[in-house]
Parts: sequence; C-alpha cells; structure tokens
Amino acid sequence: MKGLVDGKVAVITGAGSGVGQAASLLFARHGARVVAADIDAARADETAALIAAEGGEARAARCDVADETEVERLIAFAVAHYGRLDILYNNAGITVMGAPGEGPKRLTTTSAEEICAVQAVNVNGVLYGCKAAITAFEQQGGGGVIVNTASIAGLIGYGGVAYGATKGAVVGLTRTLAMEVAGKAIRINSVCPAGMPTRYGGMDMGGPNAEKVRQGMSAAHPLGRPIDPMDCANAALFLASDLAANITGVNLPVDGGLSAGVPLRR
Ligand SMILES: NC(=O)c1ccc[n+]([C@@H]2O[C@H](COP(=O)([O-])OP(=O)(O)OC[C@H]3O[C@@H](n4cnc5c(N)ncnc54)[C@H](O)[C@@H]3O)[C@@H](O)[C@H]2O)c1
Repeated sequence: MKGLVDGKVAVITGAGSGVGQAASLLFARHGARVVAADIDAARADETAALIAAEGGEARAARCDVADETEVERLIAFAVAHYGRLDILYNNAGITVMGAPGEGPKRLTTTSAEEICAVQAVNVNGVLYGCKAAITAFEQQGGGGVIVNTASIAGLIGYGGVAYGATKGAVVGLTRTLAMEVAGKAIRINSVCPAGMPTRYGGMDMGGPNAEKVRQGMSAAHPLGRPIDPMDCANAALFLASDLAANITGVNLPVDGGLSAGVPLRR
C-alpha cells in the first residue's frame, strides 16, 4: 500500500514522547523520512530506534525549540541529510502545573518566569519553526506543509490561563500565517487536543494517580474516553497529506466532542 506521505521529509518536534512519538512512528509507517527532534536527546534517539526497528527511515536530533538558532540548525540538518523538507510538525509543548494532584496553576500563583518559559516554547518555538521551514520551502521553489499542535485550551476556556494564552496564540498564528503563505502553495493547520494521558505537565501516568487522571479525562469528553496520542497523530497525518490538499488555516479539535457543546445525558 502506498503511504499517505510516501517519500516526504518530515521534521517532528517533541518527538520523544506522547503525540510527537506517535506521529513520528505513524508518518514513518506512511513512508516519510522522519527527523525526530526533542530537547531530550535520549528520547529522540529512542523514537528513531523504534522507527528503525519497524523498517522505517528516521534520524534523531536534539533541539530546544525555544532557541531560534537550534531550530534553524534542525531544519538545515533535515535538508542536508535528506535533500529537502516537505513537512514540519511543530508539536513540542510544555505547561505550567501546580503541586502534584493540584492541576494547572492559577494565574495569581504563576510567576513571570513560568509565563515567559511557557511562551518561549509554545509560541516562540512554533514561530521559529514556521520561519525556518517556510524559508526552506521558498528556497525549494514553494510548496510545503506545516502542522502545529495547539490545544482545546486555544479554543475554549480550559486548564491554566498562562498555557491557554499560548495555545490561543498558536490558533491565531495558524490562521494568519496560512493567509500569508497561501500564495506560495504552503499549507498550515493545527491539531487541537483535549486531555491525553502522556508525560506532559509531569503527569505520572505510570503512578498511583494514573487511573484517577484517566477517569477525569474520560468524564470531561462527551465521547467518554481520554484522547490517545495516536488520535492526534492520525489528524496530523491527514492534515500533512494530500488528502488535505485544499485545507489551510484550520484548527482541528481532537477532543472527543468537548468543544462542540454540552452532551445530552439520558
Ligand atoms: N497531554 C495533554 O493533555 C495535551 C492536551 C492538549 C494539548 N497538548 C499539546 O500536545 C503537545 C504534545 O504534548 P504531549 O502530551 O505529547 O506531551 P509529552 O510531555 O508526552 O511530550 C512532549 C515532548 O516535548 C519535548 N519538549 C519539551 N520542551 C521542548 C523544547 N523546548 N524543545 C523540544 N522539545 C521539547 C519533551 O521532552 C517531550 O518529549 C504539546 O504541544 C502539548 O501542549 C497536550
């Protein structure tokens, strides 16, 4: 079977865990040559090794997306190694959590350093990625796809406000940048997940609270189950593929219906 992204070169950030690892595996299964990038080099290596073990093609790269020079180097690495860039998936993200079991921090207890740190990764990191990828796309003569991981927190009031502000920014920049680059045949969309049981925010999904966290996520989603990282990877694959050739500027909820409204319970 021909893969949905056969032969494409895809850079994926936050590839060492959760959504990024699921997307790296899925894109490789669909024929992409993947650069799996993460701030944690060991995790990036693990993802590349998992892809290689399945017979796929991948390289690992360490990159802190909050550092523009590192992001430029990451894109240059993909182009140098595979000869071009077709897809960038800006997925790396962090949040601001309170003490264990407390959930997201309220604004009044969030420090200026925490606000700057979450913006540096979730907003600046996405902007740096888009900037470097679009530059590479233009040098190749145009065309290319960007997918961002935003969040349900960018669409509705949900979770911590410092984090929500960053994801609202990703939703907005996805629309605005899509308009800026549409004339160059470059598409940009985002995936907006609701609660997923990943390592994110220090959630201890192997620990004693794991079942409680899962139950909370299930109760919050009208479809009644947590979002799986592979649910988001599937959406990202669709948006990155030619199946979505006429879709740009869209922020696609992968949220079990949470942003649609209030479910009928009877
Ligand atoms: N888990 C959720 O409930 C949830 C909900 C909505 C949106 N999201 C978003 O989904 C995306 C992926 O989150 P996840 O749940 O897979 O989390 P995760 O923590 O399992 O994975 C995130 C990965 O990003 C890496 N990372 C962190 N900072 C980085 C940086 N500065 N540069 C490069 N890599 C960095 C981490 O090392 C980690 O491997 C994030 O953008 C997050 O905001 C998550």
